[in-house]
Amino acid sequence: MTIALRAPIATDYDALASWIPNAKACLHWAGPRIQLPFTGADLQQQLTVADTVSFTLTDGTPVALGFGQLWLRDGDAARLMRIIVAPPLRGLGVGRELCRLLILHAFDVIGARAVTLAVYRDNAAALALYQSLGFEAVDSRSTAESLIMRLDLTLVGTQT
Ligand SMILES: CC(C)(COP(=O)(O)OP(=O)(O)OC[C@H]1O[C@@H](n2cnc3c(N)ncnc32)[C@H](O)[C@@H]1OP(=O)(O)O)[C@@H](O)C(=O)NCCC(=O)NCCS
Repeated sequence: MTIALRAPIATDYDALASWIPNAKACLHWAGPRIQLPFTGADLQQQLTVADTVSFTLTDGTPVALGFGQLWLRDGDAARLMRIIVAPPLRGLGVGRELCRLLILHAFDVIGARAVTLAVYRDNAAALALYQSLGFEAVDSRSTAESLIMRLDLTLVGTQT
């Protein structure tokens, strides 16, 4: 089974919409700009933004395993955004693989020197995932609620 990224299709957004159970989960996943209620079509529209590339994580079947975005305009960095894994697959290493492939894409295809992200301080699973990948908090850009984190790709190369 090969796990890979592909461009999202309409049914991926339907799946994505079904993975968000409540407002807090929505805030943790996508920040304040995306708000429940939404359909898959709503999400597709709201997540299609200039300078942002969306990806579905796939094992080759039509079913989406996860979703994530890269925003290309955070200085020399690509911003990892809207990372999410299908709820039944959490805790199995899928989120780590999703991030690894997105970071590799940022480095190899986009030529980013670093990857940044924003994470709410009370999102324990996401915080632990990003720390385990080597992301470090940028205190000067963080707030009481959320951390900006950065991974310098010139130091780690593509080993992430
Ligand atoms: C955050 C998320 C993507 C992690 O995906 P996942 O597939 O469950 O994560 P993985 O199984 O790859 O775990 C990777 C690491 O994350 C950490 N982690 C994952 N789930 C965790 C949890 N519930 N509590 C604490 N740490 C956790 C662990 O350090 C784990 O490393 P380990 O395998 O060595 O223990 C997933 O929980 C999710 O989709 N959450 C909802 C959306 C969201 O909040 N996204 C973050 C936006 S910033």
